[in-house]
Amino acid sequence: MRLKGKKALITGGNSGIGLATAKLFVEEGAEVVITGRNQKTIDEALQLLGPKAHGIAVEITDSAARKAAFKEAAEKFGKLDVLFVNAGIPGNTPAGAASEELFRSIIDINLTSAYFTVEDALPYLNEGASIIFNGSVIGTLGLPGYSAYAATKAGVRAFARVLASELSPRGIRVNVVAPGGTKTPIWNRDGSRTEEQVSGLEKWISGTVPLGRMGEPEEIAKAVLFLASDDASYVQGVELFVDGGATASPLGGPMFRQ
Ligand SMILES: NC(=O)c1ccc[n+]([C@@H]2O[C@H](COP(=O)([O-])OP(=O)(O)OC[C@H]3O[C@@H](n4cnc5c(N)ncnc54)[C@H](OP(=O)(O)O)[C@@H]3O)[C@@H](O)[C@H]2O)c1
Repeated sequence: MRLKGKKALITGGNSGIGLATAKLFVEEGAEVVITGRNQKTIDEALQLLGPKAHGIAVEITDSAARKAAFKEAAEKFGKLDVLFVNAGIPGNTPAGAASEELFRSIIDINLTSAYFTVEDALPYLNEGASIIFNGSVIGTLGLPGYSAYAATKAGVRAFARVLASELSPRGIRVNVVAPGGTKTPIWNRDGSRTEEQVSGLEKWISGTVPLGRMGEPEEIAKAVLFLASDDASYVQGVELFVDGGATASPLGGPMFRQ
């Protein structure tokens, strides 16, 4: 039990990587508060997670709602040992055809709100707490079509390093987990892709990954658990890629083999 007696808050804990992490944290002895927008999937997640999990519906870009949610979490469940800043959206903003509205919304959710999640949770973090941001390989890879999304994930990596400096005096560790393509609902959130298109995309992504497949949310959750736990007591300010080798060996995927 690597998180026995610990309290964790996971933004976007009602879906995908956040939900898999909440499940693993509970199995490892933590009490977990999950947030998300969708009350129905929050309720379904709580059913799955059992009595050591609690849910709060909050739009993460809403400053007042966010502050109130963290206050409520701390007052009801106690101060936090782990904060997984995970809520995020994808979005295509290709050069020459980028929507400014979508660009701003990606920045608002993935970058500004990620920063202010920490800012607003700080009063409720225990000394020695662990903050983990969810980054992405896209912050590094230069994938076409993803300027806004890439900027948010590179931005998160940048301010995680600043926060690691600023919060070290409180013994708070700040790290980034950077997943590669992972099988979650993110790939078809708006339902605009057919099943065939989703599986075509999965096949293409798998072809770019040296290990030849996409990640499972549970595999990302295990890395988050490591960063959250005392096993990572001397790990500060890192970006941990969990991507089957996609960033380390970009030409190692099956599609590049002769
Ligand atoms: N899947 C991948 O391949 C991959 C790769 C690299 C990085 N990531 C990152 O991993 C994180 C989680 O993504 P996922 O793949 O698990 O996707 P997901 O299943 O779509 O989950 C996204 C989560 O973020 C929440 N969220 C999004 N916008 C929000 C908002 N404005 N206010 C409050 N909550 C909001 C969603 O809540 P609702 O469902 O209630 O809207 C949901 O719980 C994201 O930051 C993503 O960028 C994913």
